[in-house]
Amino acid sequence: MSIIENALKKANKQNSVEKSDELSVLSAQPKNTLEIQKEDKQPTSDDLKIAKENYVSIDWTSLAKEGFLDQNDTKSQLAEEFRVIKRPLVNNMQGGDVNGIKRSNLILICSSLPGEGKTFVSINLALSIANELDKSVLLIDADVEKPSISKQLGIKQYPGLIEYLENDQITFSDILLKTDLPNLNVIPAGKRHKYSTELLSSQRMYLFAEEVSRRYKDRIVVFDSPPLLVATQAQILAELVGQVVLVIAAEETPQTVVNESIAKLTKCDVVMTLLNKTKKDFDLYGYNYGYGKYGHT
Ligand SMILES: Nc1ncnc2c1ncn2[C@@H]1O[C@H](COP(=O)(O)OP(=O)(O)OP(=O)(O)O)[C@@H](O)[C@H]1O
Ligand SMILES: [Mg+2]
Repeated sequence: MSIIENALKKANKQNSVEKSDELSVLSAQPKNTLEIQKEDKQPTSDDLKIAKENYVSIDWTSLAKEGFLDQNDTKSQLAEEFRVIKRPLVNNMQGGDVNGIKRSNLILICSSLPGEGKTFVSINLALSIANELDKSVLLIDADVEKPSISKQLGIKQYPGLIEYLENDQITFSDILLKTDLPNLNVIPAGKRHKYSTELLSSQRMYLFAEEVSRRYKDRIVVFDSPPLLVATQAQILAELVGQVVLVIAAEETPQTVVNESIAKLTKCDVVMTLLNKTKKDFDLYGYNYGYGKYGHT
């Protein structure tokens, strides 16, 4: 089994962005067969006691069982696939000023529908960059309706993004968590809020994006987002970032649905499509399959 490569689809700056008309493909990774105890409970008072600690140890064992990249994994097929996926994103980030991509270091991972693999891609992309490149990554859980990053990484701390947006007494450093992977920091989503859409479209969110992009110019910021066609939040977020990765579940998401999503992303400087969960065997650099299928959507 192998991958296929990568695909960039870009709305405005077609000529100046690397691989702007190719499609990335990510194969379905076999899960470790060990049983995992999934936790899905609300924070308890014990959890609240650790809310002020700004350091977390990632639950690597649980992540590995779920089929995510391991801290020391540089040789697996998944590690190789993410090496290919991250390359054009990092190149666009580095050439952002020249290519006129605003906030090119901010990358939103979105999809049309739920369950296409946004969180899987967000975490693995962040781990891949933090593991292998001399770059810091900030992973932000912006799927504020259905936050999964904290659950997957075994993080219980908060406040998170929502509290920051809601309360100007909460500072950036209050929500920033350092992890035991030195190049990886995380911002959790925070508590659910009935006005989360309004908070994400607020001026404070815009200033947050500007500030993170400017202050951490050499750092990649990965946002895990809600699905585009289910909530308006993803479209709001897409307009704040420099690059968007549209994850498409292979053999599940119809072309018309993908087209609808692409239409919602026309204001974005760079839109890259990533065909996820492919089950077929491909050559490592077999770009053509993906390109033919979705490259011109
Ligand atoms: N390439 C892949 N290989 C193996 N498993 C995958 C892959 N992509 C996604 N999955 C699995 O599919 C399930 C759904 O993925 P994920 O939670 O990342 O989707 P999502 O788009 O974030 O969903 P939601 O919209 O509900 O947040 C998870 O169990 C995830 O581990
Ligand atoms: Mg998710």
